[in-house]
Amino acid sequence: MTGHALFPKQPPARYNTRTLDPGGEACKGPYAAVQGWTLRDRPASPGLEGSSVPHEVFGLRLAARRLLTPRVVEFQFERVDGRPFAYVPGQFVTLHFPGSEGELRRSYSIASMTEEVAARSIAIAVTEVPNGRACRILFGLAPGDVVQASGPFGRFILRDDPGMDYLLVATGTGVSPYRAMLPGLRQRLAEPGREIRLLLGVRGPEELLYGEEFLAFSRTVPAFGFIACLSRFLSDPPRDHERRGYVQEILKSLSLDPHRHIVYLCGNPEMIDASLAYLKALEFPLPAIRREKYLSSN
Ligand SMILES: Cc1cc2nc3c(=O)[nH]c(=O)nc-3n(C[C@H](O)[C@H](O)[C@H](O)COP(=O)(O)OP(=O)(O)OC[C@H]3O[C@@H](n4cnc5c(N)ncnc54)[C@H](O)[C@@H]3O)c2cc1C
Ligand SMILES: NC(=O)c1ccc[n+]([C@@H]2O[C@H](COP(=O)([O-])OP(=O)(O)OC[C@H]3O[C@@H](n4cnc5c(N)ncnc54)[C@H](OP(=O)(O)O)[C@@H]3O)[C@@H](O)[C@H]2O)c1
Repeated sequence: MTGHALFPKQPPARYNTRTLDPGGEACKGPYAAVQGWTLRDRPASPGLEGSSVPHEVFGLRLAARRLLTPRVVEFQFERVDGRPFAYVPGQFVTLHFPGSEGELRRSYSIASMTEEVAARSIAIAVTEVPNGRACRILFGLAPGDVVQASGPFGRFILRDDPGMDYLLVATGTGVSPYRAMLPGLRQRLAEPGREIRLLLGVRGPEELLYGEEFLAFSRTVPAFGFIACLSRFLSDPPRDHERRGYVQEILKSLSLDPHRHIVYLCGNPEMIDASLAYLKALEFPLPAIRREKYLSSN
């Protein structure tokens, strides 16, 4: 990976110390080396919303869009200036929209794998929120249209965690970071004895965004398990990977060990609060619970 202009040589003078991952460690490894400073130094989640941290704003041109599920569209963007868009899988990008009451900023997890896309493009998956202000603009975009953006941001990323098993939990588009992480997950599963399970909560089987990819991954990598937590409808007859209920209910049916598991939670804020309360009751230490809440800031 080559360095790029989004990461200054010196850390910014002021840091946003807010974090979605309060137990997190600074990012070590190749990304930190390339950027010249650690992720702890970087402007923190949730994006730039409510933050006064200086940032670079750049244009993203919509290259393509495709329907992932009846309510979710994947948008693929490229930088207008042709510069690379380097990110760590699990990070998000913030889009800046003009609004009648000032600029509207909305963050979106990057769904694309770094290997999958050209270094200049990124994909995001967006749920259409009825009357959503950003969604109205986003879903009206056609290929060639340009939006303003900043990032990447966030610490909801994979770490080394040798010997630990992962439980990845998402509702809806909260699964995007895990899709971006697939190559990193494959790498971790090469270590004998490690297991990773993914719980994805959606309403019904037709809403399982990237579901076929996760199923295919689970078939080729036996130490990876995929469980679809369906809140409203199961297939008829139900498929092996389908369960009925919210993710935090299915979570309770799993055998979890605070000394063995690290849990990632992404998506609906109420799901994250409910899961967090349960994990705390099991005496999970906070650094073993990594969170990304999907909230609108203004
Ligand atoms: C770090 C981060 C990453 C994110 N990543 C993604 C992502 O990858 N994909 C994605 O789709 N979203 C993501 N979000 C959420 C996204 O930023 C917006 O909040 C979302 O698109 C709605 O914005 P909006 O302006 O269209 O709706 P708003 O105008 O903000 O919302 C309209 C109203 O609807 C309510 N509302 C919104 N959604 C629902 C709902 N499902 N049920 C009930 N009420 C609702 C709001 O509270 C508000 O009252 C992320 C958020 C954060 C902070
Ligand atoms: N307050 C907010 O601003 C707010 C709240 C939620 C979502 N959103 C936004 O709406 C968009 C889509 O939301 P989403 O990702 O949650 O997708 P979604 O497609 O609306 O929901 C995904 C799944 O989560 C379930 N769910 C709903 N409430 C839950 C809870 N308290 N605990 C566990 N699971 C729950 C849903 O079940 P049922 O539909 O069957 O209940 C569904 O099965 C995102 O952009 C998100 O940011 C905003």
